[in-house]
Amino acid sequence: MIKGKNILLGVTGGIACYKDLELCSRLIKKGANIKVIMTPSATEFVRPLAFETMARSEVYSDMWEGHHDIVHHIDLPKWADLMLIAPASASTIGKMANGISDNFLTAAYLACAKDVIIAPSMNTQMLHNPATQKNIDTLKSYGVKIIAPESGILACDTIGDGRMEEPEQIVEYLEDYFTKKDLLGKNIIVTAGPTIEPIDFVRYITNHSSGKMGYNIANEAKKRGANVTLISGPVKPFDISGVNRIEIKTNDQLKEAIEKKFDDADALIMAAAPVDYRASEVSDKKIKKSGSNLDIEFIENTDILKHFGLVKTNQTIIGFAAETDDLIDNANKKLISKNADYIIANDLKKEGAGFNTDTNIASIISKENVINLDIMTKVELANKILDLVR
Ligand code: PMT
Repeated sequence: MIKGKNILLGVTGGIACYKDLELCSRLIKKGANIKVIMTPSATEFVRPLAFETMARSEVYSDMWEGHHDIVHHIDLPKWADLMLIAPASASTIGKMANGISDNFLTAAYLACAKDVIIAPSMNTQMLHNPATQKNIDTLKSYGVKIIAPESGILACDTIGDGRMEEPEQIVEYLEDYFTKKDLLGKNIIVTAGPTIEPIDFVRYITNHSSGKMGYNIANEAKKRGANVTLISGPVKPFDISGVNRIEIKTNDQLKEAIEKKFDDADALIMAAAPVDYRASEVSDKKIKKSGSNLDIEFIENTDILKHFGLVKTNQTIIGFAAETDDLIDNANKKLISKNADYIIANDLKKEGAGFNTDTNIASIISKENVINLDIMTKVELANKILDLVR
């Protein structure tokens, strides 16, 4: 998580440095602390005042300015959790690769014992010049991480490689960098969204689940290194990649999809809201209005969580309880009857909890205890839940 991290942002003289203002804004919104070093050329493109405002930071640029009771180019790297140089010009990359420390930024880089990430930005020929490529390779060999530039229209009106990656993607990269990879190699099945059960050719029953809870769990598990199978009911499209996403509609399809992956799984997290009942007979035509009431018999669906809770071997089984009353009591009953390791209980009637919200208020129930959590984003709750996976 970027929240609370100290990022030392180095800005070099490339036209892309204007994008850093958005980058700073995004990082600040994520809760990062930023300090900015600009090379003299960078200050020709964007005034330090703009960075002071966006990064809420003093900007360091001149080695010879100010008081010298603190040696800033030594102290700033000590303060930092990470040094990010974006945009990284060909000239600065060259200096870094060859140990030249002729300005504040390159001196701070030499004094930096923390990880360094650079986002190169330059004209295509400059990028592909063997000298630049050699310098980038040298930096890689020193452990510097590279956010590869993309291809697109460049400031010199040519199309080619060399555009600095967009701020949104740089933030994503950093988010991934700061995320602990404690679930590396774990196979985790996450279910999300509702199921639907047909009544006739045109009608079905379902519920209000948006999939947000389950998709966030899947996404966070992926970031923490897990191999994720996300089994999703019909939901609005989510921006998710790097997970094995399987779409299902009915309860039977959900159960079948879990069945295929369960033996190899380390954990099953059931955030989905499966429909508890289905019509005993499904008409293959549209049922016509008859002028009188319609009786439909509903029969109970298989309790999927219970099924897997009873056959589990070494899997961590985490279910949810969506309740409108007697939250903890009902959740405790579900923990026992479904043989789950944990139940995440959420009260659907509480503001900020339950269906289709970006936040949730949950209690984690286990045989040992009940932990009542404050309201938090579904991303934060997802991580609390993933901390339970053995
Ligand atoms: O999708 P969102 O809009 O983000 O909303 C999130 C959520 C409210 C759907 C989620 O936080 C949640 O509570 N999911 C579980 C919903 C539910 O079906 O709860 P339940 O108390 O009816 O079921 C208990 C557990 O058994 C659940 O883990 C459920 O997935 C599972 N179950 C339920 C019925 C059934 N036939 N088979 C099951 O496996």
